[in-house]
Amino acid sequence: MTHAHQRLLIIDFGSQVTQLIARRLRELNVYCEIHPYNRVDAAFLKDFAPLAVIFSGGPASVFADGAPMPPKAVFDLGVPILGICYGQQVMMHLLGGRVERGHGTAEFGRAYVTPTDARLPLLDGWFEAGREQVWMSHGDHVSQIAPGFQVYGTSPNAPFAITADPDRHFYAVQFHPEVHHTPKGAKLYENFVRLAGFTGDWTMGAYREDAIQKIRDQVGDRQVICGLSGGVDSSVAAILIHEAIGDQLTCVFVDHGLLRLNEAEEVVTMFRDTYNIPLIHADESDLFLGALEGVSDPEVKRKTIGRLFIDVFQKHAHEVGGATFLAQGTLYPDVIESVSFSGGPSVTIKSHHNVGGLPEKMGMKLVEPLRELFKDEVRALGRELGLPEKFIGRHPFPGPGLAIRCPGEITREKLAILRQADAVYIDQIRKHGLYDEIWQAFAAILPVRTVGVMGDYRTYDYACSLRAVTSVDGMTADYYPFTHEFLAETATRIINEVPGINRVMYDVTSKPPGTIEME
Ligand code: XMP
Repeated sequence: MTHAHQRLLIIDFGSQVTQLIARRLRELNVYCEIHPYNRVDAAFLKDFAPLAVIFSGGPASVFADGAPMPPKAVFDLGVPILGICYGQQVMMHLLGGRVERGHGTAEFGRAYVTPTDARLPLLDGWFEAGREQVWMSHGDHVSQIAPGFQVYGTSPNAPFAITADPDRHFYAVQFHPEVHHTPKGAKLYENFVRLAGFTGDWTMGAYREDAIQKIRDQVGDRQVICGLSGGVDSSVAAILIHEAIGDQLTCVFVDHGLLRLNEAEEVVTMFRDTYNIPLIHADESDLFLGALEGVSDPEVKRKTIGRLFIDVFQKHAHEVGGATFLAQGTLYPDVIESVSFSGGPSVTIKSHHNVGGLPEKMGMKLVEPLRELFKDEVRALGRELGLPEKFIGRHPFPGPGLAIRCPGEITREKLAILRQADAVYIDQIRKHGLYDEIWQAFAAILPVRTVGVMGDYRTYDYACSLRAVTSVDGMTADYYPFTHEFLAETATRIINEVPGINRVMYDVTSKPPGTIEME
């Protein structure tokens, strides 16, 4: 099979950091995919046609019954292979070396590797300071290397820290070059892909051309609908699909009345006026806010919104008439099959439906042009497509919108106050040049009134809380350490500019134990 790009295959043995290998390679403009070891066989290898293969680390032991192994055919491909940690042990085990159980030789954390006499092109740029810091994380260890291999680097607890058979281009390291604690790790990957003949042909320009062709081939002359949330992923997907098939795409933007200040106008203007993409602007705020009246339980709020969203989307999708495809901004981390060792060698498939359950319900096929991309690559593609920077760098905004930033009962009055406070807060953050340093920031309106004094008057108004967090993926988060001056200035502005609020708090809870959103 011929492929548009040079491809590298990562065989996953269940390491927590396998995705980081993919990140390091993508940064080198190398296209790669992660596949679990038990989904890779000789036929798959032939079809995938990798120019190089990497074996990831993993928690297993080669001594365990049914220890995860790659197909032997991988060694006959005639392409360079790099084995990392468990991947190294697998290589040695299968190629005639020996691995020993770790009795007192387990090694976790920082270690230093020093070179042995020989030089290896894989290590160009290494050992300039005599030794290199690396990150080790292993129980078992290699006790005898396979025939044809030589040692190129050792550490006190890993005499075979770096080994290679340069003739066959088989490389095996005991440490993890993909983590930041191995400072020269990226250089090692760069050397590896250079040795394998990669030219760095994975660029956003090339991806865009390719994706457009694929969308045209998939869709033909049929109709596509796309649920737009106003977030980066669905926006980039919509613009890309529009570039591919023009007016065969219709977007549906459901305004549930829980959006931020001016948000609906901004999204509608951008899609209709700037990009000229057919857009149904479904103002359903009465429906959603009506259904949420008197509801204060967070789960009931979420379920109500989710259910109505599907009903409304379906109703408007019928207006498009005969659309057979549903477009979604699904990303690569959502579709990677990860090896799970907790319940035996099972395979967990993480799949993510932005409009949960809809494709099945409506009998539609999916168009997911971002399935191969990481979040920052989606942003790069957005830039390539001319999406304004302000839009690309936006903080995440949850599907249930302001509903989960308004604990207790939701009223139109509270939502209006919240929108104003949030706008002032974000304006402050932008003015101080902090927006891009923060992963997500927002105001929430608390379900209490407190007493204050403004001028000569007593006030009895709502309290609001401000949240700002740093995070990598939203799974864990730390509160952002604003200066006292910033907090004081922001509180003063909100109280002066937003009628209905007379007290401002700053939320200093991390996640865990808190969550990012209030509900
Ligand atoms: P939590 O509050 O769980 O939020 O710490 C983690 C991240 O997920 C976002 N979030 C959502 N996004 N639909 C979404 O699309 C949701 O229902 C939802 N709930 C939370 C949240 O904004 C944060 O970025």
